[in-house]
Amino acid sequence: MKFFVDTANLDDIKEAHEVGILSGVTTNPSLVAKEGVDFHDRLREITALITEGSVSAEVIALDAEGMIREGRELAKIAPNITVKVPMTLEGLKAVKSLSGDGIETNVTLVFSANQALLAARAGATYVSPFLGRLDDIGHDGLDLISTIAEIFDVHMLDTQIIAASIRHPQHVTEAALRGAHIATVPFSLIGQLTKHPLTDVGIEKFLADWNKANQSS
Ligand code: E4P
Repeated sequence: MKFFVDTANLDDIKEAHEVGILSGVTTNPSLVAKEGVDFHDRLREITALITEGSVSAEVIALDAEGMIREGRELAKIAPNITVKVPMTLEGLKAVKSLSGDGIETNVTLVFSANQALLAARAGATYVSPFLGRLDDIGHDGLDLISTIAEIFDVHMLDTQIIAASIRHPQHVTEAALRGAHIATVPFSLIGQLTKHPLTDVGIEKFLADWNKANQSS
């Protein structure tokens, strides 16, 4: 499973990139709004930094024609822009058209296996099931990952599954086990994933032993 970072914050993207684990970036209108910057300018900054991995940029229009128009404009920013489209009938029309143009697409706000299957059949490069938001309403987001992975496997669909709306480390482990190709994670979670109390205790002990030996010699 690969990692994308789910943010429009440039410093966070830079740091995640430095860690060497980053295969892409996802943004959404809420994340961009939080930054208070021009959307296209920010995408230019992100794609100047992330030149190879996918950078998802979401359309705002709700009709297919508008989504296609916006998607084509977004795709002009850089060759690694993936156009993020909401999971609706209009969204699927846009996916068909944009993928026909050779533009990568990410169908977002996926909450059921049928939605994922439709998105894959429309030609989506990625589907994004939202684990955390399903958990929030008492459903099991991780079960959805297993179901989608099985369906894509049985029917040999090559659309990649991005586990999205990830909230905690266990989501990451389980998404990997259940066949997600990618987890898009908040920046703060990357630090959390590096942590284990025994790692900290081990570092302290190594250092204490080293200092003791070097003081006495
Ligand atoms: C993914 O592409 C979405 O931007 C994101 O994962 C949504 O996460 P949230 O439910 O924490 O807002």
